[in-house]
Amino acid sequence: MIFDTHAHYDDEAFEEDREELLASVKEAGVAAIANIGYKKSSIAETHRIADTHDFVYEVLGFHPDETFEMEAEKETVLEWLHGELQREKVIGLGEIGLDYYWDKTEREIQKKWFRAQLDLAKELALPVVIHSREAAQDTFDIIKEAGIPEGLLVMHCYSYSPEMAKEYLKMGYYLGIGGVVTFKNAKKLKETVALAPLSQLLTETDCPYLTPVPFRGKRNDSGKIPLVLDEIAGIKKTDREETEAVCYENALRFYRMSS
Ligand code: NI
Repeated sequence: MIFDTHAHYDDEAFEEDREELLASVKEAGVAAIANIGYKKSSIAETHRIADTHDFVYEVLGFHPDETFEMEAEKETVLEWLHGELQREKVIGLGEIGLDYYWDKTEREIQKKWFRAQLDLAKELALPVVIHSREAAQDTFDIIKEAGIPEGLLVMHCYSYSPEMAKEYLKMGYYLGIGGVVTFKNAKKLKETVALAPLSQLLTETDCPYLTPVPFRGKRNDSGKIPLVLDEIAGIKKTDREETEAVCYENALRFYRMSS
């Protein structure tokens, strides 16, 4: 069974065929999907999708690019998010972090709201999904300082060095692995997967983005995770069935859902 631990089915890329697609991925063996609501409009849409599909769950927070939305509302926004996180199908807080690639929001503002949302996750004892792009050291420092307990954090779409991965793994956190691992030029990531314990890897799509080979460049969906599992099993020289079963168990443990 497959758990897509990071998806964006609220994206407009799914506007035309969302219902048919979700039905077909369920049919293909995808047992659970965490849809990431990453700004106010995306959170509203995530509620709608989760309310109408039993196997879709919610992970809610403000993406670093969107923290200007938080800055505009100041303190009341945390109360608002706190309220949203009380919904029945919420299983985590995210995606939160730092993005110095797009730099859509000032870095100091990103850092401020990253810290505030980590504190909220700690207060509510929710698993946290981290987005970090070209901000390796600052992300690491802030996470370390926040003291999120072991097992309650995933570095979504892990893209940094194998050395830094070791640090996160030592802290008992997970690495989110998606389509990028199938790319020929993803040397560092393949090295990271090779050294990481299988018990600390989560499968994800980040769909509609980051589609695995041979569909690279086309729209991604949870039904393509088997290609990621093939690659992980190949790198780690583990049994393909076992790789799938272990990754599924990892996701249930991370999001604290019973099987
Ligand atoms: Ni995402």
